[in-house]
Formats: sequence, structure tokens, C-alpha cells
Amino acid sequence: MIDTLKEHISQVEKFNADKADEIEAFRIKYLGKKGLINEFFAEFRNVPNDQKKEYGQAINQLKDLAQDKVSSLKEILENGQEQVKQYGDLTRPGAPFELGSRHPISIVKNQIVEIFSRIGFNVSEGPEMEDDWHNFTALNLPEYHPARDMQDTFFIQTDPDILLRTHTSSVQVRYMENNQPPIRTISPGRVYRNEAISARSHCFFHQVEGLYIDKGVSFADLKQTLQYFTTEMFGKSRIRLRPSYFPFTEPSAEVDVYWGLETETDYRMTKGTGWLEIMGCGMVDPNVLENCGIDSKTYSGFAFGMGIDRIALLLHQISDIRMLSENDIRFLKQFKSAL
Ligand code: DAH
Repeated sequence: MIDTLKEHISQVEKFNADKADEIEAFRIKYLGKKGLINEFFAEFRNVPNDQKKEYGQAINQLKDLAQDKVSSLKEILENGQEQVKQYGDLTRPGAPFELGSRHPISIVKNQIVEIFSRIGFNVSEGPEMEDDWHNFTALNLPEYHPARDMQDTFFIQTDPDILLRTHTSSVQVRYMENNQPPIRTISPGRVYRNEAISARSHCFFHQVEGLYIDKGVSFADLKQTLQYFTTEMFGKSRIRLRPSYFPFTEPSAEVDVYWGLETETDYRMTKGTGWLEIMGCGMVDPNVLENCGIDSKTYSGFAFGMGIDRIALLLHQISDIRMLSENDIRFLKQFKSAL
């Protein structure tokens, strides 16, 4: 008899369950009205007197153990359910963490920056809201200069001296005002022009400006630098410089790169010529150097400016510039693998 009791004690100690009905079945088995413990109590009177003490203690121990077991298992079960209520199913797989992608403008900008940084150019930036001096006057574009009309400017209404910069050439001025040669810097950034928005033009876009000032810098240096750039950027080393006009450079040129006529796209992009215009450039006008506090008798230099958006459209075969600012996830996702 006593052995059976001891056997139950060790079973109760080992018992474990994590479902409400299992715990309830256990409770009924031991502690229910017709349960084992009551049965053992009923047996008490049949136990020989000399064993009554030991037997009684064993029943009480079994009863306590069974009660403790039921209440502790119930507690664990309830706590667990509360956690599930709070956090949901803790064993479910995690929500996928989607990686973003870089914007095509950033991709192209980073490539350009990287290529020029390899030959010693640093990166400089300036404000998008500029004053007349930095955007125009210091760049040899005094008031009433007809070339100002080339750039449809957004003015800030309350102050005609303040405007949204129309090109990143304004950063040249700021850089020269604050640094003496040798200067080798490129300035990427957003620019604004009051133009009708279409598939081919937008009222804001992005440029990279380049500036190199030192003793004895020549037009040949400019040409060599640009050829290095087109080779690294596009894998095309054939360039040509067409005479052009910019108020801030003299002489000035427009740079074309020979794209080739291998595919139908080449034909379309180059209008059948094989040549693609990619930037403006020239030798910095001595007036500009002087305006910015650099001695034009000692120093000379070159500058160039190119549109990032246009290059992004070209390289990624994008047919509408508006795609670049519409935040359409289906479009942006396509650049996921690009750095
Ligand atoms: N600022 C010119 C534009 O927005 C681009 C440019 C041309 C920049 C010639 C230059 C340059 O530095 O030398 O169209």
C-alpha cells in the first residue's frame, strides 16, 4: 500500500503538461471527489496501526504535491497565453526586411565622384538657394547680360537678389572665394530652372561641376582630363570639343563623346551621328578668377559642367526624365543590385 503511494508521489513530481485539458485530467485523477487521494484516505482505516503514521504522512505529501503541481502548471499556461496575446505567435517566421535601393541619380553621381576622386578631385557643395553674385555676377554675368536669359531663373519673390541656383557653377565661386590654388574640386548638386516639364526636361535636375586651378594649367590638361573621364565612365575614349560660348569660360567648348552606331538605340540616341553631347567646359575666364580673389596672372584653370539626369537616362535607357522624381517603387526597384 505504502509503496503504491510512493509510486504516485514520484509520478506527480515528474508530471508535466502544457494544455488546459491535460492539467484538468490530472487534477481530477488525483484531487477530484472520486480521485485517488480520497481513495487513499478511505483506505486509511484498513491500514495496520503501526503503519498509520507513515501512511498518513505520505497521503498528505501526495495531496500537497498534486495541489502545487496543478496550480503551478496553470500559472505557466496562463502566462504563456498572455504573452501570445501581447506578441502573437512567437514561433512564427520574422517579417521580411526589404532592402532599399539607391536612386539612379545617386548611382551616377557616385560613379562620377569616384572617377574624379581617383585623380585628386575633392567634393564640394553649396546652397541650392543662392544670391545673384554667386549664381551670376561673379561668373561674368552682370545684370542685363543677355546670357542670363539662357537660364530661366526661379526668383524668391520677396527678394530679387535671392534665387534657386540655375547651375552648380555657383559652387565654383564659393570654393574659390574660400580656397587658394591648387584647386581640384567637383561639386554635385540639384539645380532649378523655370522650364515646362516634359519627358525631356524638368524644372529641377542635377549637375556636376568640375574646377581645376593651378599654375600653368592648359587646354590640353582639360582635354586629357575629360578623355580620362569618358573612358572610365562610358568606356568610350573618343571625344571632340566643339567651340561654344559660356560667359564664365574663355575659350569655351561643348564636349561630345563618340558613342558609336552599333545598335538601333545608338542611332536613336545620337540622331544617326554616333556623337553624343555630354557637357560644357572651358578655361576659367580671368575675370571670374579675379572676382573670386585669385590672381589671374599667376593662375589659370579649367571648368566643366554636366547634367547627371541626362547621363542616368542614357546609361539606363530611361525614356522619360519624370520617372526620376515620381517615386514609383516599380521603377526604383529595378536599381536594386546597383551600387
Ligand atoms: N553652368 C553650365 C550650365 O549649366 C555648364 C557649364 C559649362 C559649366 C561650362 C562649366 C563650364 O563650368 O565651364 O549649362
